[in-house]
Amino acid sequence: MKRNLIVSVLLVIFTASVLLSILIISLTRLGTGYLRQEFGVAMPSYPEVKKAIWLDQGWSPEQRARYHYLSQGTITFGIPYEWFVALERPELSLVDVGLLSDPSYLDRFGFIPPDPGSEDTVLLPVGFARGGPMVSPSTGERWLDPQTGKDTTAIGLTCAACHTGRLTYKGTEFYVDGAGALADIPRLNAALAVSLLYTKYVPFRFDRFAKRLLGENASEDTKAQTRAKLDSVVAEVKRLQQIEASFGAANRIEGFSRLGALSRGGNQLFGDDLNNIANQVAISDPVHYPHIWWSSWFEWVQYDSSLEQPMVRNVLEALGVGATVNLVGKDLPLFASTIDVTAIFELETLLAGGQPKLGERYTGLRAPKWPEDILPPIDHDLAGKGAPLYKELCEGCHLPPVGTAEFFNGPFWKESDLKPGARYLALNTYGLGEIGTDPARAEIMAKRKVAVPKELGIETDDFALALGELLEKTVNRWYDSQTPPTPQATRDEMNGYRQSGARHPLAYKARPLDGIWATAPYLHNGSVPNLYALLSPVAERPVYFILGQREFDPEKVGLHHDSFDGGTLIDTGLRGNWNIGHEFDDAPGRAGVVGRKLSVSERRALVEYLKTF
Ligand code: HEC
Ligand code: HEC
Repeated sequence: MKRNLIVSVLLVIFTASVLLSILIISLTRLGTGYLRQEFGVAMPSYPEVKKAIWLDQGWSPEQRARYHYLSQGTITFGIPYEWFVALERPELSLVDVGLLSDPSYLDRFGFIPPDPGSEDTVLLPVGFARGGPMVSPSTGERWLDPQTGKDTTAIGLTCAACHTGRLTYKGTEFYVDGAGALADIPRLNAALAVSLLYTKYVPFRFDRFAKRLLGENASEDTKAQTRAKLDSVVAEVKRLQQIEASFGAANRIEGFSRLGALSRGGNQLFGDDLNNIANQVAISDPVHYPHIWWSSWFEWVQYDSSLEQPMVRNVLEALGVGATVNLVGKDLPLFASTIDVTAIFELETLLAGGQPKLGERYTGLRAPKWPEDILPPIDHDLAGKGAPLYKELCEGCHLPPVGTAEFFNGPFWKESDLKPGARYLALNTYGLGEIGTDPARAEIMAKRKVAVPKELGIETDDFALALGELLEKTVNRWYDSQTPPTPQATRDEMNGYRQSGARHPLAYKARPLDGIWATAPYLHNGSVPNLYALLSPVAERPVYFILGQREFDPEKVGLHHDSFDGGTLIDTGLRGNWNIGHEFDDAPGRAGVVGRKLSVSERRALVEYLKTF
């Protein structure tokens, strides 16, 4: 009897240690940089918010809800909605630790809790959209519920997940539509991977998962089917994570507010979708999520002004966040995709509004105004001193303030070839030698090579050009597949009356600075935490800082960036994170110097003036 007990205890200990070893090995293989000793995912905590406000940027509540939740056909996480809401948090425990999809948990990754005023009854964070039927990302097959035999539902990120900002000030949180998100998407992916793995290995967890998914009375057969599916999902997640981890130190941590979107998008299309691992690259070029009010009117978009047409750009993004496109034949036509082109056009139209004109109310998404009821009031005397400095030192590159007569009458407006009267902003771009900021992002676009199979009819190995062609073909295949095929005039309209140009200048563009106060961190790679530091010589900019904090600094205008548990440490000494260039210093001719040194009071005056835009 006693011996039996000892044997059982030993057996339990043995099983537990085997299980733990499997877990440790699997987790190490996953290569996530986010794990802590207690086998959870490191997460920051935030003080409680007393009041939450959406700033007025010209949208009605209905328009805002549309922007927040309209699906563009993406399948971002490789699993259907039903699985997403049945997974537990990635914490090692035998009992239920709460759901991963709980908005208050996702909040800690930076995702904005659902707007209580929104019509959406599902209560997912802003930017998490439920779409049509789920298909398996690797095979394109329908993903059915084994219990009912019906389609499961796709879930993916929409524009608002990456392009909605949030800031707090003394207990009030305010949200900014179209500003860069604070979110850490790679951290969410890591959390999902660990959560799936725990569902597979941790005792009792699969049973709870299956019960949530299939109900109390699920048959053994449907449970077995679900387990097999889970095994294949975990294997796929591991495969993808291993590819990424194989680049080791060449990867840059992206973290809160940043994503290596271009490299990731390229890897998805030319690596994963083409099934060619040799086309994969490291994630070496993280960028800050740009703000996108007014960008619909830029003649060329992306930080390096590399894509011309809004439709092509948005389709790139949709494919980057997991919409699928068929590039390898199989049973579907080439370039058939899950992208919802109509939804993308609606989202772009919400952002753009009608052609902006002097003296007329702008109907697209407007830049936020400095909220004097939340933040300390602007010192208008000081701002007045900044105005002539802006004219002298900034306007030549960044254009006159948006909406003024000088802005509307300037020579930088260009007529569309496709629609008389349509005008777009031809922004100034500056070569790397001149602007001197981190080169990684521009160089990926300019120097990356890809191998493309002949069947796709794309004749180049130049990444940027191949990308442009691939996107154009994907959009055209969608137009062609409609019944009747989309007429040319509608195509032109949906394409924003622009050609589908792609190019790769080793340069970055200077955009208008309206609403720039709400968009820290600064520069394309988010390497400078506030405006004051950006106007200071490089030697005075923070070398290390931490992203993830939400508390606004109204004086330096940006984010607090000192020590913060669970945040993202940015080391500006690493390529990809460099905080150099765009410098004001008395060193004429030095690369990256764009103006004379500014005195402390001049910097303060300029910062104050930028609050008035
Ligand atoms: C997964 C995050 C993500 C999603 C979702 C996303 N974007 Fe972006 N977007 C980015 C990033 C990152 C960039 C910067 C790309 C670059 O130049 O490297 C960007 C760039 C842009 C730009 C160019 C801005 C400029 O200043 O040149 C526009 C416009 C834009 N996005 C609009 C949209 C729209 C519209 C949607 C939805 C249809 C969308 N984005 C969805 C991350 C995202
Ligand atoms: C020679 C042209 C030039 C001059 C002069 C110039 N800028 Fe810039 N500015 C740029 C370019 C190009 C970028 C984008 C650089 C990058 O992201 O790497 C930029 C970026 C910025 C950004 C960051 C934008 C963002 O989205 O993060 C701010 C803020 C800014 N400039 C403010 C100013 C102010 C204020 C002045 C005048 C005191 C000024 N700039 C003068 C060209 C210029």
